[in-house]
Amino acid sequence: MSDTPKKLRSSTWFSDPMHTGFVARGWLKNQGHPEQMFDGRPVIGICNTFSDLNPCNANLRILAEQVKRGVYEAGGFPLEFPVTSLGETLMKPTTMLFRNLASMDVEENLRANPLDGAVLLTGCDKTTPALLMGAASVDLPTIVLSSGPMLNGKYENRDIGSGTDVYKFTTELRAGTMSQTEYLEAEGGMSRSDGHCMTMGTASTMACMVEALGLMLPSGAAIPGPDSRRKRLGHLTGNRIVEMVREDLVMSKVLTRAAIENAIKVNAAIGGSTNFVVHLLAIAGRIGVELTLEDFDHLGSGMPLLANLMPSGQYLMEDFFTPVGCRRLSPS
Ligand code: FES
Repeated sequence: MSDTPKKLRSSTWFSDPMHTGFVARGWLKNQGHPEQMFDGRPVIGICNTFSDLNPCNANLRILAEQVKRGVYEAGGFPLEFPVTSLGETLMKPTTMLFRNLASMDVEENLRANPLDGAVLLTGCDKTTPALLMGAASVDLPTIVLSSGPMLNGKYENRDIGSGTDVYKFTTELRAGTMSQTEYLEAEGGMSRSDGHCMTMGTASTMACMVEALGLMLPSGAAIPGPDSRRKRLGHLTGNRIVEMVREDLVMSKVLTRAAIENAIKVNAAIGGSTNFVVHLLAIAGRIGVELTLEDFDHLGSGMPLLANLMPSGQYLMEDFFTPVGCRRLSPS
């Protein structure tokens, strides 16, 4: 099984013949992991932002199991751990207050533990940049899997978008043009499934950014949260991270100036959130790529807008996925 050319980071813990190895192996054996799990196979940390306090990331528990299957199949050893989860819908006064705290949590967990590679499970707005920032500071082979956008919201036979239509409905309620009963009906139809907001708001923008940066498998940003193709993508993500460890494909080899420029162009083409600028600057700073506000203007201002998505446009992420995503994700 040990076909990895480079000495694995985790071997400092697990290959030690003395006290450190005794403790590291022994306390994982008490979880049922037999001797062969410590034969030099890549140890993959699955960094999970699942939380009951963050409904946008609720399906990450299921997706983590899919990732584990993929890691095992490829000859790796997955170890899942929780990190701070920032949910936009419940946290006050603002999740932005805690983004850097969450990134420190991720960074220190990755650095302190016997991990050779990382799978970052993200979803709601700040969880994606926080995890990327923390992982960039450690620079292990790293891949991202997001919770995926919710299915299109529905109200009175039309599609409604999270965020975008909440404001409209609240204004209508205040104006007396919508009743409290209608308001509650809309509330029940808006968030119909697992997943994050399904407009091109910050969460979808962050997922598209990650895919454009090359840190997520193709189609990963757009597959709806409850679509079974996302589960299969989880399995493939587990396969891929083990390969990445064997290729020594650390984050800094992927997150280059060229990748960042590509993400800026993609964001302009899809009409992504302005929060993209704030978060990408922070991520670039962690990986050591120089990036300025002028770069966003220079690279993005000439790009044609290719996607017609809420909040500025008409459609939702489920529509964004359907024409391209069905063709691109394999195996089916
Ligand atoms: Fe979590 Fe919008 S509230 S993505």
